[in-house]
Amino acid sequence: MSTTTTAPATGTAGLPLADRTSGLVGSVIDSSTSLLAKQTHDIVRFAMGSPAADAIPTAALAEVARTALGVDRADAFDYAATEGDLPLREALVDMLADTTDATALDRVTITSGGMQGLDLACKLFVDPGDVVAVESPTYTNGSATALSYQADLLEIPVDEHGMDVEDLRGQAERTGKTPTVIYTVPTFQNPSGASLSLDRRHRLLALAREWGAVVIDDDPYGMLRFAGDPVPSLHELAAGDPLVFSVRTFSKIIAPGLRVGWVDTDPSLQPLLISAKQAMDTCTNLPAQRLVEGFLRGGYLAEHLARTRTAYRERKEAMQEALTEHFGGMARWTDPDGGFFLWITFDSPENNTEIDAAIDTEALFEVALAHGVAYIPGNAFSPSRRFPDALRVCFATTPPARIHEGVARLRRAVDELAGAAV
Ligand SMILES: Cc1ncc(COP(=O)(O)O)c(C=O)c1O
Repeated sequence: MSTTTTAPATGTAGLPLADRTSGLVGSVIDSSTSLLAKQTHDIVRFAMGSPAADAIPTAALAEVARTALGVDRADAFDYAATEGDLPLREALVDMLADTTDATALDRVTITSGGMQGLDLACKLFVDPGDVVAVESPTYTNGSATALSYQADLLEIPVDEHGMDVEDLRGQAERTGKTPTVIYTVPTFQNPSGASLSLDRRHRLLALAREWGAVVIDDDPYGMLRFAGDPVPSLHELAAGDPLVFSVRTFSKIIAPGLRVGWVDTDPSLQPLLISAKQAMDTCTNLPAQRLVEGFLRGGYLAEHLARTRTAYRERKEAMQEALTEHFGGMARWTDPDGGFFLWITFDSPENNTEIDAAIDTEALFEVALAHGVAYIPGNAFSPSRRFPDALRVCFATTPPARIHEGVARLRRAVDELAGAAV
């Protein structure tokens, strides 16, 4: 799978394309959904960041649908308020009370998934040529959204404590490029699984205040902690500072096909958010909002989260065991305390006791697919393609026995690729 991004040629079909189309780089992750849908052989799917099929609470959603979307509920299929259906906004505020994302009604706007939250943030804060700092590796669709608003990206390394905030300061000073926006996935990051330490959270906020930069705090996985101690969200640490724009979603904690998320911002931004959203989609899908509201009010979430956290911990451990068995001595991987992803980096040939060749994970993709396993190559997570030797796997979607099978297939693919290289 090539992760090279290609802009449409200017004048495609003789049409006068807008300049901004050169920033439309798309998403390798999303394209993998279509690619995999076309495959007819058995594939262990570590590619998409989807909840497990058995983690979708279908029984509860069907129960809610019976009343919330029943034959006498034509109202549930009307247009909704742009800022979100009031009963859902109220249920959301109640759900978040006593969590690190505790908030108030005038701060929340319902969006069409987390992606629309990212788009709204960039629409409000990114002008062409503005510098947006992103993690490296970063969530592809987040950097792609900034690029679609013609941002100039600054890639900041990530280690086991999250984005290297001192490097961010250093790069900004060296290059003279002060970010207007800092985009971070602070908890169980996509793709590395790393979490920004408390100290770095404080330092990031201090830097943003110093620069007057907006922090896009994109945290879809924070409620999926299965190990370690909780860290306060950037939203909580900011204590109402308007510089923090928080993006959240129900995609990972209920179901991604609902396309329901929210943004939590300073109340003064809501009129602009409403105007921006009215020019995009008028309102978020109302039947989906009613389903989510019924799910929250029905008290299903707590039990659902408890069950899925346990399953995801087992799956992460299964993935690590399988990696140790098949990739010990040739690769390193991260150890997240929650979320969906592990980031695997192959050792260079000198440090690799198993194979002599460097592993190019884009070249490996086709071989792996033929062997029946899919992942996302590392370069997809860096606009400047810094991770040819890394890859992202989602452990959340696959039961432990299948995880072992998928990792065994990946090892066979690596052996085939390495054998072909020598
Ligand atoms: C970090 C991050 N932000 C945003 C999103 C998008 O969320 P949604 O599917 O709700 O649009 C995802 C989904 O994978 C994600 O991992």
